[in-house]
Amino acid sequence: MLFRSSIAVLSLASTALATPVQLNARQNASSPCAAVSASVASQAATATPTVPAQLAYECITSVPLNKSAALDLVDATVPYFRWQSSTAWLKNPPEEYVEKVQEAVDVWGGLASIKSKIEGEEYENEFEFGWALYRLLQTTHDGHFVYIPDVIGTVFNWARPVPLVSISEDGTELPKPYVYPDILASSLGNASFAPSPIVAINGQDAQEYLENWSQYGSLQDRDALYNNVFYELAVISLGSSGSGMGTFTGGGRGRWVYPGPETELEFENGTTTTFTNYAKVLVPFDGITDGESLYKKWFTADKPSETEAVAASVSATATTSSTPTARATPAPGYPPPVIREAHNLIGGYYLEDDYSDIAVLSVPSFSSFGSTEPSFQDVGEQFLAAARAAGKKKLIVDVSANGGGLILQGYDLYKQLFPTLIGYAAGDRFRAFESTDLLGQKFSEISEGLPRTLDTDNETLLQLEYDIVSSLFNYQTDMDIEGNNFPSWEAKFGPLYQHGDNYTNLFRWNLSDVLTPVNSGGIYIHGYGNLTNFTQPFAAEDIVVVTDGYCASTCTIFSELMRQRAGVKYISLGGRPRPGITQAIGGVKGTNNYPWTYIQALAQYTITELSTPEEGAELNQTELGEYWSDVPFDRAAIGSSINVNFRDGIRDGDETNTPLQFVYEPSDCRILYTKEMTVDVTAIWKAVADTTWGGKSHCISGDLGGGYAKREVSKKEKTWEEKALYTRMAQWKRSMSIDDYPLDVFTNLKEAGLDGNAILYP
Ligand SMILES: *[C@@H]1O[C@H](CO)[C@@H](O)[C@H](O)[C@H]1NC(C)=O
Ligand SMILES: *[C@@H]1O[C@H](CO)[C@@H](O)[C@H](O)[C@H]1NC(C)=O
Ligand SMILES: *[C@@H]1O[C@H](CO)[C@@H](O)[C@H](O)[C@H]1NC(C)=O
Ligand SMILES: *[C@@H]1O[C@H](CO)[C@@H](O)[C@H](O)[C@H]1NC(C)=O
Ligand SMILES: *[C@@H]1O[C@H](CO)[C@@H](O)[C@H](O)[C@H]1NC(C)=O
Ligand SMILES: *[C@@H]1O[C@H](CO)[C@@H](O)[C@H](O)[C@H]1NC(C)=O
Ligand SMILES: *[C@@H]1O[C@H](CO)[C@@H](O)[C@H](O)[C@H]1NC(C)=O
Ligand SMILES: *[C@@H]1O[C@H](CO)[C@@H](O)[C@H](O)[C@H]1NC(C)=O
Ligand SMILES: *[C@@H]1O[C@H](CO)[C@@H](O)[C@H](O)[C@H]1NC(C)=O
Ligand SMILES: *[C@@H]1O[C@H](CO)[C@@H](O)[C@H](O)[C@H]1NC(C)=O
Ligand SMILES: *[C@@H]1O[C@H](CO)[C@@H](O)[C@H](O)[C@H]1NC(C)=O
Repeated sequence: MLFRSSIAVLSLASTALATPVQLNARQNASSPCAAVSASVASQAATATPTVPAQLAYECITSVPLNKSAALDLVDATVPYFRWQSSTAWLKNPPEEYVEKVQEAVDVWGGLASIKSKIEGEEYENEFEFGWALYRLLQTTHDGHFVYIPDVIGTVFNWARPVPLVSISEDGTELPKPYVYPDILASSLGNASFAPSPIVAINGQDAQEYLENWSQYGSLQDRDALYNNVFYELAVISLGSSGSGMGTFTGGGRGRWVYPGPETELEFENGTTTTFTNYAKVLVPFDGITDGESLYKKWFTADKPSETEAVAASVSATATTSSTPTARATPAPGYPPPVIREAHNLIGGYYLEDDYSDIAVLSVPSFSSFGSTEPSFQDVGEQFLAAARAAGKKKLIVDVSANGGGLILQGYDLYKQLFPTLIGYAAGDRFRAFESTDLLGQKFSEISEGLPRTLDTDNETLLQLEYDIVSSLFNYQTDMDIEGNNFPSWEAKFGPLYQHGDNYTNLFRWNLSDVLTPVNSGGIYIHGYGNLTNFTQPFAAEDIVVVTDGYCASTCTIFSELMRQRAGVKYISLGGRPRPGITQAIGGVKGTNNYPWTYIQALAQYTITELSTPEEGAELNQTELGEYWSDVPFDRAAIGSSINVNFRDGIRDGDETNTPLQFVYEPSDCRILYTKEMTVDVTAIWKAVADTTWGGKSHCISGDLGGGYAKREVSKKEKTWEEKALYTRMAQWKRSMSIDDYPLDVFTNLKEAGLDGNAILYP
């Protein structure tokens, strides 16, 4: 199959041309927001209108600060911040983390300082306040800890019209940034063109500028953050559920950062080009005349509903296409798959010719995205079986761009690869404080009177199994780190005082639990229950994992299992233009995020549904009574996903109980991106295969040791399926064209439909 981009390519010229018209509209308008309104009105036929970034910035910063509403918001976040597992560690992180990863952040101190600045009227406008609150959480570089105030994310997403890539000329020299369309033209267009690297951006040294910009991303690792600035095939294959064309163009969390009016690129050949940055307008602007009217309409409790806002921004496309979940997501630069999930969340591929003994399992997500067939689990199972049957000898697992998804889907994939190995590598814990204690007491008490089963026709009981019995607030869910049941809630809760905070005792998933499907998105885990009769498809030394560092959340759980238990080697790609090794796993290593809405529901439900009126009234006087305010939800950006990191992962046997988030882990080998790798993902996989089993190392740092024998490609007869696949692959190679690579991919959680309980939302 050939996946041609069905998305219209937004040419750079059309964005640039639109600009003067909109600037004219501005001349007669009475305020920047009125000018945005006029411009939006003139783009009625456009799905997502755009305006120059500077105009949008002038509009959003003309929204006056409502001091009392800002104070209400800050106060209303407090109960939720308490659920963040790592505030004590963030304030006082290990030395190596500070040296190699990120600086310390005092979250509670920062919140207090925001509050005193509001009181002292130090914020000029609503945006300045919203930005401070957003950045307080973003600078923790804990991808699960997110709050996006309305003023930051409801109205505008920022963007730059030109995606970049970072490329090493020969795989050895440190990488330089290039304009991606230049690379496409020189790779797939007529041959004579030699792209020139970017040496300066807006007058600053390009490397410095881009490293600084990368810090606006969600990951903690600086090399992974650097990769996330750029256009990358694995990310593009996720469509609107990934980080778009990179943070430089406003993909992922770049969409909330004002990039300034223009981007000036100076190339090594002496040429300079200037682009006008723009903002996508996400909500209707009818009747908006100034910052005050924008505030009244969109930044209060009675703002239009999410559906109205979404309808306005997608109506033009919605009428002409089917639902986003029904359509296969294009994956430019990927060869025809053996089997793949429709949104490319997981897919299996073979390589050809000298590499025909290699199978590749590409896993850019652990989300299950509703119920597409074949399911995530099916794809893994069917592909591994097919690869074995076809006589493939080696397996590359590519987890680039993987922000996680469903925790147990991560465990399951590991157990598909290693059905007989131990099913845990880290213990979990969460903050032990009044709210979690009260919930645990209540959930545990109710569960004690109930069986643990899904095998029932009693709908009431089934609902209780889903809501209460299967919850980790029932002490009977999970095992202690010896693998035993906890005898009581007190035994699970602890607390253990450590590193300046109180935590529960460590616990592990019980993967044979009969209630596993409730927590896994519907699946049972390989190696347990009735899924025990599986043979390990590849030896550990015949498997290698490669990643761009964007491996977060469930991906880090999977990786902890793969590295600690199976001893599988990890290769990291790209990174900052600095020598040395980089980390392979650069995203949040917390093992479970909790949406704030879920926390609120837990507290309210316990008071109103799980308690007698008298008990409820009593509980309402405790900390559980502090979750009634809807202010955090009313003031969050429409369509955003707001979370805390609820569980820490602690490596099995780590006496210091350091959350994995704060542990630096170099990869086994670092490979740089070459030009070819940014247009053809098989170039990455071949470099990985050569490095691991081919006797030709591409590592610029690290190495895979002498343990890997050079492969011998057998000349065995191919099956007709393989022959047909190789024919399609050859056709794919011949027909690769610049038009396959979309330049209009943007993060859009409103249409992404991601699901998961350990997921970093882009
Ligand atoms: C601005 O107003 C002038 C005078 O009313 C009018 O001639 C001109 O067309 C207007 N320009 C735009 C861009 O609306
Ligand atoms: C400011 O917010 C308060 C709620 O805290 C609200 O009652 C008031 O109307 C708002 N003021 C303006 C000018 O919107
Ligand atoms: C390449 O050159 C040929 C012949 O000059 C021309 O027909 C074709 O359109 C060019 N292709 C591209 C992608 O520029
Ligand atoms: C210099 O390089 C840039 C970027 O590759 C390219 O767009 C431009 O045409 C080149 N200028 C000259 C004079 O070659
Ligand atoms: C980038 O540099 C500017 C100027 O030094 C600074 O104000 C800004 O905070 C930096 N951004 C990040 C993400 O570090
Ligand atoms: C169904 O389960 C609930 C909760 O355990 C119980 O109260 C109820 O009696 C059960 N109903 C039947 C018909 O067994
Ligand atoms: C830890 O728990 C103890 C006992 O409940 C309590 O006194 C102390 O304030 C708690 N510390 C923190 C940082 O919450
Ligand atoms: C794990 O789950 C199974 C099935 O529900 C149960 O029999 C077993 O006791 C549980 N183990 C622990 C240690 O909780
Ligand atoms: C395993 O058990 C579950 C639940 O009883 C069932 O839905 C599933 O089909 C079984 N799977 C296999 C492979 O037997
Ligand atoms: C397990 O798998 C093997 C080989 O596929 C098969 O021969 C055997 O019957 C299976 N055993 C059970 C208990 O299902
Ligand atoms: C809980 O207390 C709040 C005031 O803090 C009140 O609005 C609410 O009605 C009370 N709910 C219950 C169920 O007691």
